[in-house]
Amino acid sequence: MADALRIGIAGLGTVGASLVRILQQRRNELAISCGRAIQIVAVSARDRNKDRGVDLSGVEWFADPLDLAANAQIDVFVELVGGAEGAAEASVRAALARGLHVVTANKALLAKHGVELAKLAEEKGALLNYEAAVAGGIPVIKAVRESLTGNSFSRVYGIMNGTCNYILTKMEKEGLSFAECLREAQRLGYAEADPAFDIEGNDTAHKLAILTTLAFGSEIAADDIYLEGITNISIDDIHAAADLGYRIKLLGVAQRTESGIEQRVHPTMVPLDSVIAQVDGVTNAVALESDILGELLMVGPGAGGNATASAVLGDIADIAKSRPGAQQVPVLGRPAHLLEPYRQAAMQSHEGGYFIRLTVLDRTGVFASVATRMAENGISLESIVQRSKTPVVSGAPQTIILVTHATMEASVRKAVNSIKGEGYLVGEPQVIRIERPKAA
Ligand code: NAP
Ligand code: HSE
Repeated sequence: MADALRIGIAGLGTVGASLVRILQQRRNELAISCGRAIQIVAVSARDRNKDRGVDLSGVEWFADPLDLAANAQIDVFVELVGGAEGAAEASVRAALARGLHVVTANKALLAKHGVELAKLAEEKGALLNYEAAVAGGIPVIKAVRESLTGNSFSRVYGIMNGTCNYILTKMEKEGLSFAECLREAQRLGYAEADPAFDIEGNDTAHKLAILTTLAFGSEIAADDIYLEGITNISIDDIHAAADLGYRIKLLGVAQRTESGIEQRVHPTMVPLDSVIAQVDGVTNAVALESDILGELLMVGPGAGGNATASAVLGDIADIAKSRPGAQQVPVLGRPAHLLEPYRQAAMQSHEGGYFIRLTVLDRTGVFASVATRMAENGISLESIVQRSKTPVVSGAPQTIILVTHATMEASVRKAVNSIKGEGYLVGEPQVIRIERPKAA
């Protein structure tokens, strides 16, 4: 049997501790399938005294991940600290600069510095593996980067944040408040260290940016993604969506259009009878639409210690099985210096259906005025209803819900702005885009 692969793990939180546990429990099976043992020789975290439920005896401890990355005893540096800057960034750069292979689950880091890191890895002949960075345990990076080579992608979209999907599911199915659901997601280890990254949509944007690069061959452009999180979604929206035959999901969507690539992250209504609408809780789903294969939907656990550690483990095993001098898979699907400049399609040109919820004063002519403002902007309506779960109280504000046929974002914004100027709106209008899976 070949020499053991010696790994150093920085970060012993939800993912890191699960990884250590699995590597210890599956030591023999891993050695057989990889043809060599995988040995944890060193670790790093902030608090040496914290009980992590794993045995770290005989493993060297480093307070600073940078020192771990500089350690001569390791062959692979596993970064499970998190964050686009600071200790994570510095240690990954240092490890790659030494020619060490790196495995990371850090989508924030890759979304910000992925192209530079890929160039560095390729220059040094090191592997930079990051399966866990997108959609947790779903092997979507390998699918797009390797298995679907040669396919030309038209759209890549999905539920890529377990925390948000967990919150939306619990709100709908158990009637819990947003805050209660988020607390539970944090307790279960799904949320980011700062959960604003989850609920404001940034985490989905980071993952989408990575997938866009793999699918479309363009440079990572996380800052150019249209972004809306789920903090604005109320239980009323969830119920109204269900009444109209939809479910609300936070989707990340990347689509090739004539004017460039459209990348957007926002709460989205998907038809209730579509597969993606049935994806509940922490589960993620990624749909890939391409010319040769057609449509592929990958569904699986999107967050949590074991699911994420499973993907990290796969990356480590790939390194254990790799042979020195063998041709390497380019980090971002094609050599980093051959990535194309990102060409952004304007969000104003997005075309699709829209759900619009308006709370209006109970005045004669409001309904007609709303319909007129829509018509003036060339928007064709699929439905317009006055909706009330409780008996209508004369004079109390009323809810009007509109669903449009496919129309331009710019037209919807113009129509909503002119409605705002009419003086009968109470509060802000709610606008949710509708996305249709190919088969639905
Ligand atoms: P976590 O539970 O917050 O763990 C972070 C670990 O990093 C902790 O062990 C912490 O040390 C250590 N750490 C933080 N700053 C450090 C520093 N300056 N120096 C040394 N150690 C430091 O995070 P996690 O949920 O395991 O996530 C880790 C990474 O995986 C992140 O990039 C995250 O986005 C990604 N990820 C997470 C999931 C998930 O479901 N949780 C899924 C996919 C990807 P202490 O323990 O001593 O505080
Ligand atoms: N916070 C992330 C989520 C972890 O909830 O999906 C997995 O990337």
